[in-house]
Amino acid sequence: MSILLIGGEKGGTGKTTLAVNLAALRALAGRDVLLIDTDIQASASYWAQSRDEAGTQPRVACIQKFGKGLQTEVRDLAKRYQDLIIDAGGRDSLELRAALVAAERVYIPIQPSQFDIWTLGRMDDLVKTAQGFNPDLRAWVVISRASTNPSVSEVAEARSLLADFEHLSLSPAVIRDRIAYRKAARDGLSVEELKPGDSKAAEELRALFREVFDGE
Ligand SMILES: Nc1ncnc2c1ncn2[C@@H]1O[C@H](COP(=O)(O)OP(=O)(O)OP(=O)(O)O)[C@@H](O)[C@H]1O
Ligand SMILES: [Mg+2]
Repeated sequence: MSILLIGGEKGGTGKTTLAVNLAALRALAGRDVLLIDTDIQASASYWAQSRDEAGTQPRVACIQKFGKGLQTEVRDLAKRYQDLIIDAGGRDSLELRAALVAAERVYIPIQPSQFDIWTLGRMDDLVKTAQGFNPDLRAWVVISRASTNPSVSEVAEARSLLADFEHLSLSPAVIRDRIAYRKAARDGLSVEELKPGDSKAAEELRALFREVFDGE
């Protein structure tokens, strides 16, 4: 059983993209996974709906959940699914805070251009507060939508900034800005399933997947 949250306060960092791709890979691995969409924008739900409409197998079950009851709901759903993947919208919301208390791991995608002390400080605080109720929670920042230009040293910069935050670790995975993510999302697919595919996108996503679900 694993309860994974993809969250963070900044909008448009790739949270939904990572949540749906990881859910699809989990389903492809034969797991009974539930995607929980806690964002009223409902982009994860639209993705799952497009997937259903196209008849893509395996199916990825998705529900929407808003408001205070989320924590209790997650606890209950955890008994019925092998894995829960929660997509939280890009705000400091009730849902984000509730999900932080219910999750085992949180991955916080951050775009290198938005990689600032303020953002990290806010997330470090939220994680610290959540750990007061949920001591097993572990939090990683994952670089998302990074430039494909090899001369940009975003990873090194991120690592040095993150060293100051006690409750956040830097994921070794790096997700880059690639058209394949947008194309796949449009059709309710993961980058793994996209045809013609993008092997670099598929490989970096698999690396993140292995890290997140290591040994489970
Ligand atoms: N790695 C990527 N490469 C290219 N495009 C991406 C990537 N990740 C996300 N995008 C695109 O960027 C936009 C925002 O992504 P996404 O919806 O996943 O972000 P989000 O963090 O969930 O946003 P919100 O905070 O609004 O929920 C989408 O159009 C998506 O297709
Ligand atoms: Mg989103």
